[in-house]
Amino acid sequence: MKLDQNDLRAALNELRYPGTDLTLESAEIIDDLRVKNDEVLIRLHWPTPFQASHRSAREAVEGKLKEIGVKKTHFQEQVEIPAQARQGENSLLPGVRNIIAVASGKGGVGKSTVSANLALSLARAGAAVGLMDADVYGPSMGLMLGAAGRPVMADEKTLIPIDAQGIRLMSMAFLSGDDTPVIWRGPMVHGLIQQFLSNVAWGELDYLVIDLPPGTGDAQLTLTQLAPLSGSVIVTTPQEVSLIDARKGLRMFQQVNVPVLGVVENMSYFVDPASGNRTDIFGHGGGKRTAGELSIPFLGEVPIDPEVARGGDEGMPIVRKNPESPAAQAIAVIAEKVAGQLAELAIKGRGSAALHLDWDDN
Ligand SMILES: Nc1ncnc2c1ncn2[C@@H]1O[C@H](COP(=O)(O)OP(=O)(O)OP(=O)(O)O)[C@@H](O)[C@H]1O
Ligand SMILES: [Mg+2]
Repeated sequence: MKLDQNDLRAALNELRYPGTDLTLESAEIIDDLRVKNDEVLIRLHWPTPFQASHRSAREAVEGKLKEIGVKKTHFQEQVEIPAQARQGENSLLPGVRNIIAVASGKGGVGKSTVSANLALSLARAGAAVGLMDADVYGPSMGLMLGAAGRPVMADEKTLIPIDAQGIRLMSMAFLSGDDTPVIWRGPMVHGLIQQFLSNVAWGELDYLVIDLPPGTGDAQLTLTQLAPLSGSVIVTTPQEVSLIDARKGLRMFQQVNVPVLGVVENMSYFVDPASGNRTDIFGHGGGKRTAGELSIPFLGEVPIDPEVARGGDEGMPIVRKNPESPAAQAIAVIAEKVAGQLAELAIKGRGSAALHLDWDDN
C-alpha cells in the first residue's frame, strides 16, 4: 500500500495534545511529517515539558498510523514552550514566555506553598523557570526553597537571581540588611515590584511564577498593570470566608483582562496515614463549586499533609521531598494543567495556525 501525506493527515486529524483542546496538527505540534514506503518520520514540537503527556501523544500517533498500515514510525522530538503573544518586543520581560501569578484574596491559604511546588514541578520536568516573590513585606520563598545569600550584580542596577533547586529566584529576603544596593532600599511596594520586573536579569524563561501577597491591594494592582501576566492561579481553602475572598481575586484579574487559569483548593481534605481514612476538615468541594459558578477551570485539590508544611519549613518542597505523596501528585497534576492551558492560550493567540507540510518523499 502506498501512503501519502493526505492519508497520514486524515489519520492524525483528530488527535489532541493531552489535557488540552489543541489538535496535534492545527497547533503545529506536528512540525513535519515524512513518509517513505511504509515508514514515517514525524517531527514533534511539544508545547509543555511533561514527559507523560509526550508519551501518551506519541503512543496515540503510533496507534493511528499503525491502523492505516504504517509499519514503523520514527519520532524526532523537541520541547518548545510557546510564548504568549503579549510577550512581544515592548514587554518588560521579553525573554519570558509565560508569566503566572499565584494569588488569593485571603492570607495563609497556601499561595507560597503552591507557587514553590508549581515552579519546582515545571523545573523538574525540564522547563526554564523563574520565581518572583512579590510578597515584599513577608517574603517566604527563600525559606521554602532553602535558598539564601546575596544576589550578584550583573551591572550597577541589575541583580542576578539566586539559583534555588534549579529555579531562578528573586525575593526581598535576599535584599535586607545594610549592604543592600541603594536603589533597592528606597522604594515602596510599587517601586520594588517594578524593579523586580525590570532590574532583575531573568533571562530566557519558559515560565515565571509570581507569588503574590494576599489580597487585592497595591502589589497586586501594580503587577497587573506592569507585568504582561499570561494567567493567574487562584488559591483558596474550602471555607466559605476564603471562597468569598477568592471571588474578589478572580474579579480583579478579570477586570484587567488577565486570563484566570483556574482555582486550586488547598488544604482540601486530610487522609489519616494510619487508617487511610479521609476527613473533610473544612468541608470540601467549595473550590470546585466556585469555579463552576464563575465558569473558570478547576485545577485540583491539594490535601492537608503535615509533610507539606514541614517541607516548606525545611526548604524542601513536597514535590521533591516526597513526590509520590497525594499532595505532591495533586500539585504535579495542577502544574500539567497550568502548562497545558498556557500552551493553548499561546497557540490560539498566534492567529491562524497553518500546518507546515513541506515535502513528501513519494
Ligand atoms: N496542603 C497543605 N498541608 C499542610 N500545610 C499546608 C498546606 N498548604 C500550606 N500549608 C501550610 O500553611 C501555612 C500557610 O501556607 P503559605 O505560606 O503557603 O500560605 P500563603 O497563602 O502564602 O500565606 P500568606 O498569605 O501569608 O502569604 C504554611 O505553614 C504552610 O506550610
Ligand atoms: Mg505567601
